[in-house]
Amino acid sequence: MSITQAVILAAGEGTRMHPLTYTRPKVMLPIANKPILEHLLIEMHKNGIKDFIFVVGYHDEQIRDYFRSGEKWQVNIQYRKQNKQLGTADALRMVEGLVAGNFLMANGDSIVSSEDINNLIQRTGNVLSIIEKQDVSGLGVIEARDNLIVRIHEKSERPASHLANAGLYLFTPDIFEAIEKTVKSPRGEFEITDSINLMINSGKPVAYMVITRWFDFSYPWDLLTANESMLTELRLSHERAEIEENVIMKGIVSIGKNTVVKSGSYIVGPVIIGGGCEIGPNCYIRPGSAIGDRCHIGASVEVKNSIIMAGSKVPHLNYVGDSIIGENCNLGAGTKIANLRIDKQIIRVAGIDTKRRKLGAIIGDKVETGINASINTGTLIGNNTLIGPGVLAHGVIPPGSKII
Ligand code: UD1
Repeated sequence: MSITQAVILAAGEGTRMHPLTYTRPKVMLPIANKPILEHLLIEMHKNGIKDFIFVVGYHDEQIRDYFRSGEKWQVNIQYRKQNKQLGTADALRMVEGLVAGNFLMANGDSIVSSEDINNLIQRTGNVLSIIEKQDVSGLGVIEARDNLIVRIHEKSERPASHLANAGLYLFTPDIFEAIEKTVKSPRGEFEITDSINLMINSGKPVAYMVITRWFDFSYPWDLLTANESMLTELRLSHERAEIEENVIMKGIVSIGKNTVVKSGSYIVGPVIIGGGCEIGPNCYIRPGSAIGDRCHIGASVEVKNSIIMAGSKVPHLNYVGDSIIGENCNLGAGTKIANLRIDKQIIRVAGIDTKRRKLGAIIGDKVETGINASINTGTLIGNNTLIGPGVLAHGVIPPGSKII
């Protein structure tokens, strides 16, 4: 029997994504101008998955408003609310009785490919997909024998292998029985990986399948990595935009409806620009940039490998490199963001090694800067912050700050 139902867990906040998740759930963060969750839905739908159950919680209204009943994607979406985020097993428990037979389950905060999903739904029984990774810290890791899982070790200090749980599963209804028996983990959560171990212990085999493409999002800079990669798959379209004379576009450039690209703008794809934006005159937009709807990228502005969310203005003499800017921000004339340390060392953010030599700022929503403000590499700026003229901003700046 073919699989047509998928459960997607999307109730969590994603605190490691602060400040970006103060105002939206992690699954709604944009990659190439589409929420992470939408990418996942599209990849599943390519395989004939039509019935979705989204388990929602934190800021669920945003997910419901965006996806509604799923009509736009020709799918059918039902919602179940998980009031307290008590863990992935508890989240799946919410849909008991709503799924019939075998079904797919995915963490809503990762992106997998339709090819891997296709391979998974050809299988029978309980199957967990895994990704081979050098660094498996913070993940579930499997111990396996003869193509079957012996045990999953969740967030182990000394991982048993490099085979990490990718959070994409094919389940039989047996999983619900195991969930009932699952107790709280040392992390204080009801974890689906514990339920799977219980299933294995009760004699029900759980197989695994290696997948090849996986974007997981732990920290804000993971969004940049996925964005850069996924932009290369864009289809070229700027028919509905107004492109003035003397605009140069190279590579894949996608521009939305009612966006005006003014003379002298130089855009090197892959780049996506949303609808209703004002671009240029005389700006330089470099590869890996995703600019949301209703943004303004003005004169003598350079944007490189960055995510700029809807309604933000980068209007005069600005440099934005390897950065994420939330919604409805405004950078004053001459505000620049550094993206490379002068000693070229790896950038750390709040003590965390980002493993990146190039990283600018992570800026929340409704942040405003004055003229000639400078923002150092790896700066995190909370929502509703004001950074005055000529200020050098650095470090972790809490929401609502006034730095003048
Ligand atoms: C989970 C897996 C881990 C795997 C990793 C892959 C568990 C216990 N661990 O860890 O083995 O390697 O994913 O990324 O599942 N969610 C809810 N309600 C909750 C808790 C989570 O809906 O109560 C949702 C989150 O919104 C998120 C997904 O479930 O979309 C994963 O949750 P998260 O807590 O991030 O799991 P990990 O710790 O990453």
